[in-house]
Amino acid sequence: MCGIVGYVGKQKAVSILLEGLKRLEYRGYDSAGVCVLQSGQLDVAKKIGRVDNLTREVSQRRFGGTTGIGHTRWATHGGVTDANAHPHLSSDAKFALIHNGVIENYGQMKQFLIGKGYTFRSETDTEVLCNLIAYHYAKEPVGNNGTNRFLESVRKSLRHVEGTYGIAVLCVDFPGELVAARKASPLLLGVGDGEYIIASDASALISRTQNVVYLKDGEIVHLTPASFSITTLDQADVSPVVDKITWSITDADRGDFAHFMEKEIFEQPLALENTMRGRFSEDGSTANFGGLNLTAAELRQIDRFLFCACGTAWHACLVTEHLIEQFARIPCEVDYASEFRYRNTPLHSNTLFFVVSQSGETIDTLAALREAKRKGHKVLAINNVVGSTIAREADGGIYQHVGPEIGVASTKAFTSQLMVGAMIALYVARLRDMSFSDGVKYVNALKGAPALVQRALEQAAHIQEIAKRYAQYHDMLFLGRLSLFPLALEGALKLKEISYIHAEGYPAAEMKHGPIALISESCPSVFFAPTNEIFPKVVSSMQEIKSRKGPVIAIVTERAELPSGLADEVIAIPDCHEAVLPIVAAIPVQLLSYYIAVERGCDVDKPRNLAKSVTVE
Ligand code: F6R
Repeated sequence: MCGIVGYVGKQKAVSILLEGLKRLEYRGYDSAGVCVLQSGQLDVAKKIGRVDNLTREVSQRRFGGTTGIGHTRWATHGGVTDANAHPHLSSDAKFALIHNGVIENYGQMKQFLIGKGYTFRSETDTEVLCNLIAYHYAKEPVGNNGTNRFLESVRKSLRHVEGTYGIAVLCVDFPGELVAARKASPLLLGVGDGEYIIASDASALISRTQNVVYLKDGEIVHLTPASFSITTLDQADVSPVVDKITWSITDADRGDFAHFMEKEIFEQPLALENTMRGRFSEDGSTANFGGLNLTAAELRQIDRFLFCACGTAWHACLVTEHLIEQFARIPCEVDYASEFRYRNTPLHSNTLFFVVSQSGETIDTLAALREAKRKGHKVLAINNVVGSTIAREADGGIYQHVGPEIGVASTKAFTSQLMVGAMIALYVARLRDMSFSDGVKYVNALKGAPALVQRALEQAAHIQEIAKRYAQYHDMLFLGRLSLFPLALEGALKLKEISYIHAEGYPAAEMKHGPIALISESCPSVFFAPTNEIFPKVVSSMQEIKSRKGPVIAIVTERAELPSGLADEVIAIPDCHEAVLPIVAAIPVQLLSYYIAVERGCDVDKPRNLAKSVTVE
């Protein structure tokens, strides 16, 4: 949450910062601001609302410098006001700071600084840190042992901070220099041609360079126009490793689509191909994962799986649980990462522990990983962002390879997590009792998934028409069974997050135990009704809704025969293998939510109160 970008180089900083902020806007969009260091002063512009507001403000003033910082905010401390927007200046106007994260002990530090005569214009924890840096700078009039006084005052201040941060700082006395640091908030350094860009997310720098250094917790980077150096809070030197980002600027562009979410929904056939690429055995009967760092013998010892994640990724884990238990016959448990981290769940040595996170930066999922590692347990990660904190801290894992997901509502990352889960179930099943021929059938089914998803996408126009008829409801239920119960949860989450319609997901039969009280003409139910052995049971749940005048939208597989007149709307998806069904079934609920949100005039890619990647607790 919140986006950070900083520039040191020869170009006019402000346009690079604004472009970076535009690309970072999906990380937070309450307010935005920039600060440029020019002619010995820090020029700041900040505005509540979207980056476009800021761009208008900036265009009315002269921002000529070649060093600057920019921020797009998702409010934590202090309301959404121009004053609370970043960058913040120290009260002596010597420092400007942008910050992602939460400084937990800011109250104490603020009292201390007020006692020293520092004044505050905002309610933020960030301004406190900015003044603390100014305080240490003023206290230490010359650099110690030839060290850089700017850098050392940041380092000293950070030693007092409890909480999390990704920061970038400018100092008027050091034109052309920038200091940045991180602890539990993502930060990477782009190494360009005669320029450096610091950012919380690769999308902010990808238009200028693909060469990046992923900063680790406790590291501080010092940029000058000619060089950069990385040290730790304890002043130890760090040898940087320059990595290459594998995707390019076109992957982060919306193209002709109206929204990133729409683009990402329609990208799913390709995204699934990319997730599978190179991951099947030569004999075509199982999956291969280079990054698990576990031998077949070690995997055979596993007697329990535990998956931790948040939100949509948690739903993907529930489907994986179903498939692992169904095909590999190994008990599997799924926990919310935010609960796991405080719950003291037993973790026995034969439990295989996975965290799942598209961004690889979700703080609760990261904390779950760290809690398990603290106990000496091995942690594997399913993750989409190469170089993310979770990817780096895990002992092994599986990358999703779906390219950047920019729409705040997760779509292609979700179906690719389902694909990875289905492949894990296959892999462990084949180490146990699944036969060669069942393995081949399973692999062929997975390979066929992109084409089936494509067919489901062909229902888009039909679903759009349905969306028009249902856009004005205030409540909706999503009901499914077995592997499609998590899809009911996901359908409800997608709808509420982008259209603000209250929605709940339930196992279809559970509806009788309470939620049926909600049913009336004004509460439609979306049912998943695939052809399988419990199809008749799902039909009777539908009948119970119908007899209470509840409108029914049925998502059926093509061979399913619904009693006529039972469903008000029918969306047909292809019949498919059990491991592929949840992937294909995701498409109609993604499209339905998307079109309903568009119909209601909602800002689909930037839903209220949300931001991509929840990096604060
Ligand atoms: C919903 C959504 C969120 C995320 C959740 C975890 O559409 O995107 O529920 O799934 O915040 O995010 P990651 O996977 O980045 O850990």
